[in-house]
Amino acid sequence: MDLLKHLSDRDLNLPQLEFPRIKKTIDKDNKIISLGPGEPDFLPDKRILNYGSKLLKQGKGTRYSEPQGMLELRKKIAQKLRKENKIKTNEDNIMVSCGSEEAIFATLLTLVDKKEEVIVPSPGFISYIPIIKLVNGVPKLLKLDEEDSWNINPDRLKKLIGKKTRAIIINTPSNPTGNVLGKKILEEIADIAVDKDLIILADEAYEKITYNKKHISIGSLNGLDNHVITFQTFSKEYAMCGFRLGYLTTGDKLLNEINQANFYMTLAPPSISQLMGIKALSLPDKYINCMVKEYKRRRDMIVPRLNDMGLKTVMPEGAFYAFANINGKNSVKFSDMLMKKAKVAVIPGTEFGKYGEGYVRMSFATKYELIEKALKRMEKVI
Ligand SMILES: Cc1ncc(COP(=O)(O)O)c(C=O)c1O
Repeated sequence: MDLLKHLSDRDLNLPQLEFPRIKKTIDKDNKIISLGPGEPDFLPDKRILNYGSKLLKQGKGTRYSEPQGMLELRKKIAQKLRKENKIKTNEDNIMVSCGSEEAIFATLLTLVDKKEEVIVPSPGFISYIPIIKLVNGVPKLLKLDEEDSWNINPDRLKKLIGKKTRAIIINTPSNPTGNVLGKKILEEIADIAVDKDLIILADEAYEKITYNKKHISIGSLNGLDNHVITFQTFSKEYAMCGFRLGYLTTGDKLLNEINQANFYMTLAPPSISQLMGIKALSLPDKYINCMVKEYKRRRDMIVPRLNDMGLKTVMPEGAFYAFANINGKNSVKFSDMLMKKAKVAVIPGTEFGKYGEGYVRMSFATKYELIEKALKRMEKVI
């Protein structure tokens, strides 16, 4: 029986996730050191975890919440966005989601018609292209250059915009490049979006994980209120990936439509996670700052070592990835070689779009000693 004949005719050609590379150590002998995972190696702050278990013991957080997200959480998020990100918003303009990826999905589902185009940075976060394809849109790749410290080139962006362009995704701090967009470039992108009447999806998943450079939310720039949808998450800075808690903010009209679509996808985000999110937002940033300090210590070790190995790596300004130039080699073959000969797992650059070829991503959300050990092994085979 050919069960595959039942599949939809949409030729999505989605990338197969390579779990051996992405998951920490799934080999039985524990020999592989994985620099693959895009998730913090820290536990969430104990106060958040204790609060969650206390609530569960009382049977709280077990029911559906308001689909848009609990009012108390939305109030806290709005407060945070106003204070820290200078985004003019309020609780009615927040939609809580199962991680920011779901919010990005619901947004593109709401905005994009068949064959309409969405501009995505390349190299860029692994899920953008598949999501655009899943909603029958067309991804247009905006090439980023290592020589330009992986910044967005506004002239190149302008040239990519055509009649069918609906939206632009930007991601700062960036996965996988670590680039943090500065104010001038953000303003240029903003002017282009307003001029061409396009929506900007601002993915700020790593907004608090920056090193010596401040993150700026494009949604805080003047005149952009109706053109930006900002996405943030508890996954990275609160190390709460598994709780699946993210959110977006935008103007009323779009928010209501996206919220509607989201309701039919997941009904509501997990209640226990939302309650823990309220707790997380009531804590000072001290714990986050400690994690960021440790990421910086690791960054300052891994990047010079990669450069010394001849794998040129731009110093990341944010997030927790080193994106190394492998000197024109095929990134899948290079990653396979590292896995086989050094037992080190890295992610081939092609997983981040075609302009990621020639690079590999290494996560430093991995213990310092393990990174050192992985680098020693790599030095022997490169
Ligand atoms: C740039 C970026 N955006 C969004 C996400 C999705 O995060 P979540 O759905 O956990 O909020 C990730 C996860 O790795 C990411 O790297």
